[in-house]
Amino acid sequence: MKTQVAIIGAGPSGLLLGQLLHNAGIDTLIVERQTPDYVLGRIRAGVLEQGTVELLREAGVAQRMDREGLVHEGVELLVGGHRQRLDLKALTAGKTVMVYGQTEVTRDLMQARELSGAPIIYAANNVQPHDIEGPRPYLTFDKDGRQHRVECDYIAGCDGFHGVARQSIPASVLKVYERVYPFGWLGLLADTPPVNHELIYAHHERGFVLCSQRSQTRSRYYLQVPLQERVEDWSDERFWTELKARLPQAVAEQLVTGPALEKSIAPLRSLVVEPMQHGRLFLVGDAAHIVPPTGAKGLNLAASDVNYLYRILVKVYREGRTDLLAQYSPMALRRVWKGERFSWFMTQLLHDFGEHQDDWDRKMQAADREYYLGSAAGLANIAENYVGLPFEAVE
Ligand code: APR
Ligand code: PHB
Repeated sequence: MKTQVAIIGAGPSGLLLGQLLHNAGIDTLIVERQTPDYVLGRIRAGVLEQGTVELLREAGVAQRMDREGLVHEGVELLVGGHRQRLDLKALTAGKTVMVYGQTEVTRDLMQARELSGAPIIYAANNVQPHDIEGPRPYLTFDKDGRQHRVECDYIAGCDGFHGVARQSIPASVLKVYERVYPFGWLGLLADTPPVNHELIYAHHERGFVLCSQRSQTRSRYYLQVPLQERVEDWSDERFWTELKARLPQAVAEQLVTGPALEKSIAPLRSLVVEPMQHGRLFLVGDAAHIVPPTGAKGLNLAASDVNYLYRILVKVYREGRTDLLAQYSPMALRRVWKGERFSWFMTQLLHDFGEHQDDWDRKMQAADREYYLGSAAGLANIAENYVGLPFEAVE
């Protein structure tokens, strides 16, 4: 097999990059380890920055999102029972976010891929990049009891945190930056109307809470829990009781409970690897960086990488601008680090660090909360980052 850009992974990164390149007349082949059902079974976050929304529109996959997604003009920050609305639109000269689940984004992208007729291979085992340092890289993978080989110009490693792409870059050239947090998030998805029309991020002495949503009839809630907590120990009833205990009474009274459609615990982690390119291999999305979910940046940073790599590759193929390839990593990383900073900051601001924090840190954290929530400049700072920082031009 032969293609121009071989893409490893059919998560949002790989599918979106594939769609944009296909529309631009560049051949791609996507190779995914799992089946489509498995990929669609993963419940992930659901807030899209304006730049992500625009990129999905540019890719021609936004019809359902524009119909069913919910445009949110604000979010609420709740500290010590005080509700502070962050008027995103007013604080950012008109920007908003779109509430539309990552699972739905992925579904739309998969459908578009199928309609385009461009090749995608699911349930491929043992995917392996080769000769990435030379001029003719290739991928191998096993499928239906045979080994296959894909020759290509470039490889996009869109295979997530546990993928093979990052591991195929020599450890001697890869620098890993990492922060692990001493807690996780227990998430619950339910077919109940959201407790509030906007998202609520709440700091509470029992731990952080997020009240999110997927639609007007589907809610997503999260509780900060200790790392050693097991999901089996959390009945639905225990979850709802704890959630109410961490919300002000007026909000708790509005809460509609119901059976969980999904419940899971995810640890929180910040991680970045540098560089995001080695030879003809480019890392995209979770393959290169992880953020804690508190800033709603995971999918948006993946889209940010796709935005840069797509625009660079188009110029490479149309204008012979191979000089731009070396710009991908520094350009993508400038935006990644700002997203990492914001995700780390929001996590730091709103969680309870318990014994992992000394008295000084606790006072600083409280002062940060008072400052940011009590100052127009502080609120504007959070809003600007939450809706997403601008992209640099690729030229
Ligand atoms: N070979 C082929 N495919 C692989 C391999 C492999 N060795 N390893 C992983 N994959 C596939 C996974 O099965 C998955 O479908 O790569 C895909 C990676 O998808 P994601 O993990 O969703 O990563 P990405 O597309 O970068 O999307 C980032 O996902 O985790 C969230 O917060 C994150 O929202 C962000 C988004
Ligand atoms: C979600 O809806 O799952 C969600 C929303 C916002 C976040 C994290 C998760 O910051």
